[in-house]
Amino acid sequence: MKIVIKNIAELIQTEEFPRKWVAGKDMSHINTIKDAFVEVENGIITLFGSMKDWAGIEDWNNTEIIDAEGGMVFPTYCDSHTHLVFAASREGEFVDRINGLSYAEIAEKGGGILNSAEKLQNASEDELYEEALVRLNELVKMGTGAIEIKSGYGLTLDSEIKMLRVIKRLKENTEVTIKATFLGAHALPKEFKDNKEGYMDLVINEMLPKIAVEKLADYVDIFCEKGYFTVDDTQRLLKAANELGIPSKTHVNQFNAIGGIKASVDLGALSVDHLEEMADEDYHALKGSNCMPTILPSCSFFLGIPYSPAVKMIDKGLPVALASDYNPGSTPSGNMNFVASLGCIQLKMTPEQVINATTINTAYAMGIEKELGSICIGKKANLFITKPISSYAYLPYSFGENLISKVIISGKLQ
Ligand code: NIG
Ligand code: FE
Repeated sequence: MKIVIKNIAELIQTEEFPRKWVAGKDMSHINTIKDAFVEVENGIITLFGSMKDWAGIEDWNNTEIIDAEGGMVFPTYCDSHTHLVFAASREGEFVDRINGLSYAEIAEKGGGILNSAEKLQNASEDELYEEALVRLNELVKMGTGAIEIKSGYGLTLDSEIKMLRVIKRLKENTEVTIKATFLGAHALPKEFKDNKEGYMDLVINEMLPKIAVEKLADYVDIFCEKGYFTVDDTQRLLKAANELGIPSKTHVNQFNAIGGIKASVDLGALSVDHLEEMADEDYHALKGSNCMPTILPSCSFFLGIPYSPAVKMIDKGLPVALASDYNPGSTPSGNMNFVASLGCIQLKMTPEQVINATTINTAYAMGIEKELGSICIGKKANLFITKPISSYAYLPYSFGENLISKVIISGKLQ
């Protein structure tokens, strides 16, 4: 089956050849085609160009025409950092924060990640799957076509595996491109309160090998932060994962710069995520590496913590990716349109930088830059069509508004 999308006011983020990522000054540029068409066959982009060069329909019986009616077409967002599988919301903690408690104080009282872990341990795999599927379908409507999902609310062997199996089922039963990340080292469970070494042993010697054998994780992750896991823990885990051939993505520099970036980069991490607090040596560690600095502005928005210095990173020639961090504690939203708006409004990135940061660069941070992240012949046809808008800058400008009229995933209208 062939699909042709015609009458596209502007086709956004076209590429002749798939690029690795977009960094530094190049982030200020995107390629677009005005008055354009795209052809898709068997879920793959086969041709695109200007309407005046469109050859028309060869086989009417086997072609579906979608008229963009003057809307724009974007590649879907790749959201390279989420905790989409969880058992319960945490608006009680939200109210606690309004009343003056900090994220750290709430965690000390037994809230935070341990609160989510308790709820998840008591939920069945089927319940978790059904709820995560509903959330995923909502995100697709908002333009997300690829997503990374972490475990990390299990914190026991069985519950971590339960979470990863839910992610596997989402992979198998939807057309969305999904990557699974094992985040067993997300917080110290109560039973290990005074025995962090014991918990790290459990994560490294029991959970990780089992997960590797069952091929349940594409990546491993750790929350490298004061009060959670140290740089030494990070090195230990990443080395063990490397030995099993599992690359890493890490939570670093959310509240404190403690050296997690250099440790992650040195051990070949694909991305380092959060980066609200950056020290000089952190920029230095990233420069010339293959690691994608990934910023999560909705988390800063929701927790009221500093925004990451995105422009400084770009000025230093680094690439920057923007992802949602969707989770019930620090970011109860996976809306990438809002992430894009925060990129412009709070991080002071231009619309072009934001488009690169939410498509090509997040695709790299998921290891899928050859198949997604742009409109490119041979890439997967994950696209969204907007309502008619006056320019592509209107999308991040018009924050909070839903401007997406149609989403196509793997060449199928959703
Ligand atoms: O990325 N910082 C660590 N983990 C999540 C928050 C998890 C939670 O509060 O449930 C994050 O923000
Ligand atoms: Fe996170």
